[in-house]
Amino acid sequence: MSGLLIQNGRVVTAVDDYRADILCRDGRIVQIGEDLSVGEDVETVDADGKLVLPGGVDVHTHMENTFGGATTADTYESGTIAAAFGGTTTIVDFAMQGQGERLPEALGRTLERAEPQAGIDFGLHIITTDVNDQALADMKDLIRHEGVTSFKMFMAYPGVVMVDDAAIFRAMRLVGQHGGMITLHAENGLVIDQLVREALDQGHTAPKYHELTRPALMEGEATHRGIKLAELAEAPVYFVHLSCREALKSVIEARDLRIPVFAETCPHYLFLDRSLYADESFEIAKYVMTPPLREKEDQEHLWQALKFDDLQVISTDHCPFCLREGHLGLKNQKTRGKDDFSQIPNGAPGVETRMSMVFDGGVHGQRMSLNRFVQLTATAPAKIFGLFPRKGTIAVGSDADIVLFDPDEEFVISAASHHSRVDYTLFEGRKIRGRVKKVWSRGTKVVDGDEWLGRPGHGRYVKRGEVGGF
Ligand code: URP
Ligand code: ZN
Ligand code: ZN
Repeated sequence: MSGLLIQNGRVVTAVDDYRADILCRDGRIVQIGEDLSVGEDVETVDADGKLVLPGGVDVHTHMENTFGGATTADTYESGTIAAAFGGTTTIVDFAMQGQGERLPEALGRTLERAEPQAGIDFGLHIITTDVNDQALADMKDLIRHEGVTSFKMFMAYPGVVMVDDAAIFRAMRLVGQHGGMITLHAENGLVIDQLVREALDQGHTAPKYHELTRPALMEGEATHRGIKLAELAEAPVYFVHLSCREALKSVIEARDLRIPVFAETCPHYLFLDRSLYADESFEIAKYVMTPPLREKEDQEHLWQALKFDDLQVISTDHCPFCLREGHLGLKNQKTRGKDDFSQIPNGAPGVETRMSMVFDGGVHGQRMSLNRFVQLTATAPAKIFGLFPRKGTIAVGSDADIVLFDPDEEFVISAASHHSRVDYTLFEGRKIRGRVKKVWSRGTKVVDGDEWLGRPGHGRYVKRGEVGGF
């Protein structure tokens, strides 16, 4: 079959909501209309009663990513399969600059791993840990020629990946001038390290001390500082995994002043809270991610901010490490920190549950409209990170990345049935209304119910354009 016709569905984009047929050829959407008639070379799919959504765009995932000696549990193959089952058809993952490594080498090394494995399309940010003249020159080339238009920098983890304010400022100024953007992990790393040392000195080694040593105030402080650096650099800035009111306040203030500041939050901050750390057992290592879960009251602030565009994106920060050592042969996972919470690899899974969780809690929960759901999970991330209009919407000329979604089907989230290699989900046992039924990536059906129809290497590296679309 050379074409695909999705008939009679309710097509929902960030701005539209109508019944139509969608004709796709050669991986792209070529026609949208009522009662389209087509030849016999076209496969037809009846979408009556279903939502037809643009494939989700998750701009924060970590596949095969090594931090301080621990590597995430998902490969590019398993992670992109998990993403597709969750209704996401594009991820923007990370290439990580190694010590003494040039940024183009980090990109090349990551592409070598990702391209043969990816089941859906992907872009790459580069985690930049060493800002020097060469790195700045490389950033310019990467933006212009390689489609890497965003670079993540850490204000936390001194001695591992943290860069200082001057480095952030230099990178912001250069990248901003060339159509790119710095994304920031905003936490005051030096103060947090001090708190971690003090806790360990007092014999506090349990996972719950992860949260107690990473106060929201220090995320707020770093967010404020990051904004001031961006303001001085006259460059846009994007805050990853924003979790709390203290950080949100600075973002709102800056946006009110028309400073180009953007931020994402993640489902775990919307649905889970710090009361989960009350348990003394090692089991709660599954909630050891950074920033940690915050107060219950923070959730309402985040939902409100998503509704009123103070936050623009919901991504996952999918960064899975197994609870059980040796699961699928994986080593150096969460139990690395069984005697010292600071050694627990930070991160949690989420790529497979994002769309359904947000649909259930956001749309069914009457916290956002259906259009806003699409905006936050697909269109805005595609626009901000230079993927739009190829990705993130349903329009003539866009890639045929399409999700058939049943808004009313219920299912129960469980690690027993998910596709990620990690051995837990943050939302085990949760009953959800709203389920991904079929997924096409550039017109190729990759998910049909419980069946994976894709293949490793189908997913392509997407060179991104200038950031913006603000
Ligand atoms: O705990 C987290 N979030 N780990 C992933 C790395 C990061 O900071 O995004
Ligand atoms: Zn981070
Ligand atoms: Zn992350």
